[in-house]
Amino acid sequence: MADPDKVNEFQQQAVLQRSIQQTISERFAAEDDGLRNALIAAREQGLPEIQISPIQGKMLQVLAAACHAQKILEIGALGGYSGIWLARSLPANGRLITLEINAKHAAAVQSAFAKAGVADRAEVRVGKALDVLPGLESEAPFDLIFIDADKGNYPAYFTWALRLSRVGSIIIADNCIRGGRAFAQPDNEEMAGLVEYNTRIASDPRLVSLVLPMDDEYTDGFAISVVKHG
Ligand code: SAH
Ligand code: DHB
Ligand code: MG
Repeated sequence: MADPDKVNEFQQQAVLQRSIQQTISERFAAEDDGLRNALIAAREQGLPEIQISPIQGKMLQVLAAACHAQKILEIGALGGYSGIWLARSLPANGRLITLEINAKHAAAVQSAFAKAGVADRAEVRVGKALDVLPGLESEAPFDLIFIDADKGNYPAYFTWALRLSRVGSIIIADNCIRGGRAFAQPDNEEMAGLVEYNTRIASDPRLVSLVLPMDDEYTDGFAISVVKHG
């Protein structure tokens, strides 16, 4: 039988954690009209609600500031929510390129970028990321690369991220914990991609990396890697 005092203690801790996360979100990661509009439009169009959280959006901005990001690459755009956080971190002459395989998602992104007033610096390119990435070599290096598309291809995206980056670039990948499954024996192709991604960033001598729980009650989060050597 579970000890009722222990259960009570865990419940209180969960309530406290949620309240801290909400306060941080309100104080540091308030959404503007452009971000709110992107979420409303995505919901109206029936897009899946799998965008990053406001705290993660602000984390992307902190990291973009840390590497003086002028050129940003995102893999996996959905409805443009994370793209707007990223675009807002750019200087006026900065550039965000975001890749999206789904034409309906890409159309939503374009409209969300226009409404958020970032269409001058942010553009979506439609296609399978692995088909589009080779064409980006002439536009590299990117200062920040955010990976958030199909999980099975994360190892391939890692290889491209390194090829398209410079010393000091920051490579971020979403969903690198997945309730601990991203560190365990994988039981499907998506999880295998995440497990391999974590293994590679943890041991690659060109990087300094950390996986940080920050989403879904601290059961998922970003892998953050800074490129130390070419
Ligand atoms: N970064 C977004 C969420 C992305 S969800 C946000 O936080 O707002 C993942 C997106 O990746 C989906 O829109 C999906 O259509 C897209 N995607 C999946 N496989 C892809 C591929 N091979 N190439 C490009 N985009 C892909
Ligand atoms: C899924 C994808 C994501 O990138 C995410 O952050 C959450 C869920 C998904 O495919 O279910
Ligand atoms: Mg994600």
